[in-house]
Order: sequence, then C-alpha cells, then structure tokens
Amino acid sequence: MSTGSERKTTALVTGANSGLGKAIAAALAADGTRVGLLVRDRARGEAALQDIRASSGSDDLHLFVADLADQTAIRAVARAVQQRFERLHLLVNNAGTAFPERRLSPQGIECALAVNHLGPFLLTTLLLDLLKASAPARIVNVGTRITTALDFEDLNWERRPYRMLQAYGQSKLGNLHFTFELARRLQGSGVTVNCVFPGVFKSNLGGTDGAQGVFLKLFARLLGWAIPSPERAARRVLYLANAPALAETSGQYFGNRKTIAAPAQALDAGANRRLWRISEALTAEPLAQGDNDRLGASRRG
Ligand SMILES: NC(=O)c1ccc[n+]([C@@H]2O[C@H](COP(=O)([O-])OP(=O)(O)OC[C@H]3O[C@@H](n4cnc5c(N)ncnc54)[C@H](OP(=O)(O)O)[C@@H]3O)[C@@H](O)[C@H]2O)c1
Repeated sequence: MSTGSERKTTALVTGANSGLGKAIAAALAADGTRVGLLVRDRARGEAALQDIRASSGSDDLHLFVADLADQTAIRAVARAVQQRFERLHLLVNNAGTAFPERRLSPQGIECALAVNHLGPFLLTTLLLDLLKASAPARIVNVGTRITTALDFEDLNWERRPYRMLQAYGQSKLGNLHFTFELARRLQGSGVTVNCVFPGVFKSNLGGTDGAQGVFLKLFARLLGWAIPSPERAARRVLYLANAPALAETSGQYFGNRKTIAAPAQALDAGANRRLWRISEALTAEPLAQGDNDRLGASRRG
C-alpha cells in the first residue's frame, strides 16, 4: 500500500530517534523527503517523530518499530516497510550500540554482532528488491574508526573473555566488509552502497544498553569537550545520500566528503565473501535459540 505521491524521494533511517539518526531524519524531512524512522522503542520513536515534525514542518514521517537484535522483528518490519512504501530510494543503516558484557540475541548471537552487523545485513538484503525497483537508489552504512579485525574462529565470543570495545569494533568492521561485498554484488543494479565515518560527535551511543560511560571517557580523552553535534556529523552522511557527484560511486569508505583508507582486513575480498556467507547462514530462517551448528559451520567456512 502506498501513501501519497510515489514520485517523492523516500528514505528509511535506522536508529532515527537519537543522535546521528535523528539529525539525518530531520534534515531529510526538512528537504521534502518522505522519511521512515526505524526505532526499537515506540515511545522514544513517537517523541522523535513529534520533534522532527515540529522542526521540519513535514507530515510525511512514518514510524517503524523493530529491535535490530531480533531477526523475527527485522523480518516483520521489512514487510511493514514494503507494504507502506511503494518505492525506497535511500536506506541509512545508522543504528548502533555497544554492550558492557556479553549478551545474546533471541537467536543466540552476541548482541553487538547481532545489532551492528547482522541487523543491517538482514534488513538491507530483505529490502534489496524494493531498492532495486526504485533505482537509482543508495544505501549508506554508518561505520566508525573504532574497528577490530574479525576473529572468524570465535565471532560469537564463546572462547575469549568479552571485551566491549573489541566486540563493538569487530561488529563495526563488519559494516565495511558488508559494504564492499554488497557493492560488488550490486554492480549494474542502479543501487549504490557506501560506508561513512561520521566523525566523533555528541550522542547517546551505547547509553540505552549501559555502555555509554566507556565512550564518553574515550571521546573526552580524544577531544576534550569540544565534541561536535550530531547535526554537524549528519552532513557527512547527507553528502553520501544526496550528492549528484556520487550517483555512480559505490563500494567506497568516506570521511568528510572524501574517501578514506579502510582497515586492511576489510580490503580482503576473501574475508568480505566469507563474512557474507556466514551472515547469510546466521540470518537464514529459522535459527533456533541455542543452535550453535551454524556458528560452528561459520568457523569452518
Ligand atoms: N557518537 C560517535 O562519536 C560515533 C562515532 C563513530 C560512529 N558512530 C556511529 O553512529 C551511529 C549512530 O550512533 P549515535 O552516536 O548517534 O548513538 P545514539 O544516539 O545512541 O543513536 C543510536 C541509535 O541506534 C538505536 N539502536 C541501538 N540499538 C538498537 C537496536 N537493538 N535496535 C534498533 N535500534 C537500535 C538507538 O536506539 P535507542 O535510543 O532505543 O537506544 C538509537 O536510536 C552508530 O552506528 C555508531 O556506531 C558514532
């Protein structure tokens, strides 16, 4: 089912109730884009939607609720997006978080990997047909400089003591592996995918999951208190989303309007394909709770 004119540019932004995602959604709405706000908490989402409506004057805002740790919820929300939007021209995979201790998703996957990598992987692959049918379309993945090489032997943190920043960094490196492999697969489709480092900025990163203290200390040490706003950081993402010069650009890692070097691991095409195969296996339906067979297979793959 569609809502209004199908010619209007339509975007979906994950993590749109806070920080960078909210700033991106507000800027897109102010620019006349129909915006889907994907959030995990309905009340926080409603509050953000009201704020964005007030600041942008837009009435074309649509709330979608899903916990990106939960693949069942992702499948349901992807269906809801497909029903609500006849076209999708922009997907911004922005939602991200960290966990102070090892937690497992409903599918038995360590939560940083589940939310930060497998969540966008599954959501994007479920929406690919809609994006292709809407081409030209763009996917923007929000990455970070805090990356850690993936331990393919222990992606689920079963054999090592859990380390919050490493688990976060591993899952966020997954965003780059995903970007590069997806770009290869999307060649000629009219859909581009790029990853952006938004810089360091003020936000609630990790706050809902109890991990914010670590980020605040880290950022304060890096920058003192002169930390930019999410609105400023959003400009980098909006450039990738909108710049006419980037119409054909795909499979790149950007900082502030310029490409930046990706960590060596993410430039390994074999590793990119390997993570893709593992991600397919880990998001294949259904994965019973406690079923570690696929994780075992992924170690061998
Ligand atoms: N802040 C920085 O300096 C910085 C630097 C580099 C990269 N980044 C990246 O920027 C992105 C946005 O982060 P932010 O700094 O703006 O932090 P933020 O203010 O905490 O925003 C993160 C968003 O992701 C949502 N989210 C978290 N877990 C989720 C889940 N399981 N399901 C659905 N949504 C979920 C949050 O929802 P709730 O409000 O419900 O928690 C929130 O809307 C992240 O990908 C982060 O890695 C941030």
